[in-house]
Amino acid sequence: MNNFSLRAKLIFSFSSIILIGVFLSVMTGIKLIGNTIIKQAQDKVKLDLNSAREVYQTECTKVKNSVRLTALRFFIKDSIVKNSTQRLVIELEKIRENESLDILNIMDENGRIIIRSHHSSNREKNLDNVIISRVLENKINIVSTQIISGENLKKESHELAQRARIRLIPTSKARSKSLLEKTSGMIIGAAAPIFGYKGELIGVLYGGKLINKNFDIVDKVKDIVYRGERYKGKDVGTVTIFQDDIRISTNVKRSDGKRAIGTRVSQEVYEQVVKKGIPWIGRAFVVNEWYITAYEPLRNLNGKIIGMIYVGMLEAPYLDLKNRVVITFLGIALISVMLLSIIAYSTTKKITNPLKKLLFATKKVIEGDFSHRVKIIANDEIGQLTDSFNKMNSELQKVNKKYLILNKSLEKKVREKSIELKKAQDQLIQAEKMSSLGKLSAGIAHEINNPLTSILINAHLISNQLKQKEHYKENLNLIIDETSRCSTIVKGLLEFSRQNPPEKNPTHINDVIEKTLLLLKSHVLMHKVKVEKKLNKNLPIIMIDINKIEQVFTNITINALEAISTDGKLSIISRLSDDKKFLQIIFTDNGAGISEENIGKIFDPFFTTRGQEGTGLGLSISYGIVKQHRGSIQVKSKLGKGTTITVCLPIEKSSKKNSKE
Ligand SMILES: Nc1ncnc2c1ncn2[C@@H]1O[C@H](COP(=O)(O)OP(=O)(O)OP(=O)(O)O)[C@@H](O)[C@H]1O
Ligand SMILES: [Mg+2]
Repeated sequence: MNNFSLRAKLIFSFSSIILIGVFLSVMTGIKLIGNTIIKQAQDKVKLDLNSAREVYQTECTKVKNSVRLTALRFFIKDSIVKNSTQRLVIELEKIRENESLDILNIMDENGRIIIRSHHSSNREKNLDNVIISRVLENKINIVSTQIISGENLKKESHELAQRARIRLIPTSKARSKSLLEKTSGMIIGAAAPIFGYKGELIGVLYGGKLINKNFDIVDKVKDIVYRGERYKGKDVGTVTIFQDDIRISTNVKRSDGKRAIGTRVSQEVYEQVVKKGIPWIGRAFVVNEWYITAYEPLRNLNGKIIGMIYVGMLEAPYLDLKNRVVITFLGIALISVMLLSIIAYSTTKKITNPLKKLLFATKKVIEGDFSHRVKIIANDEIGQLTDSFNKMNSELQKVNKKYLILNKSLEKKVREKSIELKKAQDQLIQAEKMSSLGKLSAGIAHEINNPLTSILINAHLISNQLKQKEHYKENLNLIIDETSRCSTIVKGLLEFSRQNPPEKNPTHINDVIEKTLLLLKSHVLMHKVKVEKKLNKNLPIIMIDINKIEQVFTNITINALEAISTDGKLSIISRLSDDKKFLQIIFTDNGAGISEENIGKIFDPFFTTRGQEGTGLGLSISYGIVKQHRGSIQVKSKLGKGTTITVCLPIEKSSKKNSKE
């Protein structure tokens, strides 16, 4: 992640927040709405169950009232008292049909059957019917749901037993049972006491309505509650009455469209409702579809659970509604994500673009370009940063400019100083050489000069005395020549080592030049050298020791003549230095020139390229003299082209004054 660009990171963060936010709100929304829809459906189904119970209770009350009112009728009492059952059988059958009852029997005060509505009886006892025994016991009207065995139903009528008989049909999620058929029936049974003329109990009237395959109750509930509502060709609402776990009256349809009589409830629902007696509100798989259902137990007179009453609504319409809501939610979420992504993209662009420009500008600064400026787009933090950057950049530009100027001047100064330093160093070395050599030379010269003089005098004396002996004379001349050379060297050394200060007098330098050339006239002629003079007449008078400076000029001129050898040119210029602090006397010849190797040595005492001809002291002495005048000698030369020797002599203040005068 650290290697990703800022933009990628921002987009990633934005997207994560958007996606998490949208995901959470969509999930919560879906969950909430889904739960609300299902909750509403469950609440409705609970109410529907109440309606179903009401209808069932009404039916029970109807049966009870039919029996109660019939038991009060005079002809029943009268017939029992008079034991005229023939008439009673016909009347009772009429009443049974009118009251839509399946059973209507009269028992005597001991519970023995007097009359069965379907056919007359052999006065057997019917005391296993708990309702009848309870009425005999308490002399009150009672109604209750009860299970009548197939056997007892047969006693009533074959048709009734046949109606109660139900073949069990297995379905995918229902409880399974090895039983194939059920013969017992569920009945809403009611009984009422029959009293004689004196109010004594003379019998019991018992009426019952078989619920098995009687769809009055379930269809009535469906009509009242669901009003024939349908969804994709199916009834939305369904009602069922269970005997134990078997559908005995229902409007739930099987896949072939027939009523699902004989199918059974799921194990889960059975366990909760029938076994534990707790109502069931929730999803349940009913026959072949998922329903939102409500089940509650049906109990007999003793409170034992003998069946269930059920209402349920198809889950599909609610699921469809839920799905539509989910799709709508997802659609809104998708549009939101898209819109937010566009906003995130453009926002990050607004942030990163100026940053990119700043980055580019920073790189320019690193490369040394301080002139680059970044355009400010908005007055936000980035805009302020850009503004600060631009200001910083212009400050840097100014500082850099100053720094460059300073650097250049420093460089120049360093260069100048190093040149000066080099000069001073060279001069120091030269001065050192001179001083130590001067001291040495003084000693040597002093010691050698006297013996040399006496050798010379004696050699001359001997030479005069040996005039006749020619061959000795030759040798003696050799001694004299060599000794003369020694003497010259020693004189030179003495000159070199002489430390006495110059005797300065105001002099025009051109005069000294002219005098030197006059003295060397014969030399010049001998070497056939053309001398060119460019002497500035307006030069100031300077304070110099004329003899010494003359000696300097002589040495330099002779050197030039020697270097030219023959047919050359020597130019002598006298001028004022550019800074007007010195007089410059420039000697330029087109002679042999000095090699680079030798140029540093020419001021060294005894350095000569002229063998026996030269002593190598000429320039050393000249250097010493010029230094005594606080001047300098510079040399420029190119081998084979020629040499330029420049003598600089300082113009003292007083001398300047003179020149003006
Ligand atoms: N103008 C010049 N052209 C070429 N070489 C020169 C010139 N001036 C001086 N030199 C070189 O410098 C050397 C030293 O000169 P310097 O005058 O000190 O001694 P020298 O002339 O050899 O002997 P001397 O003692 O007679 O003057 C010379 O031998 C020569 O090689
Ligand atoms: Mg010389």
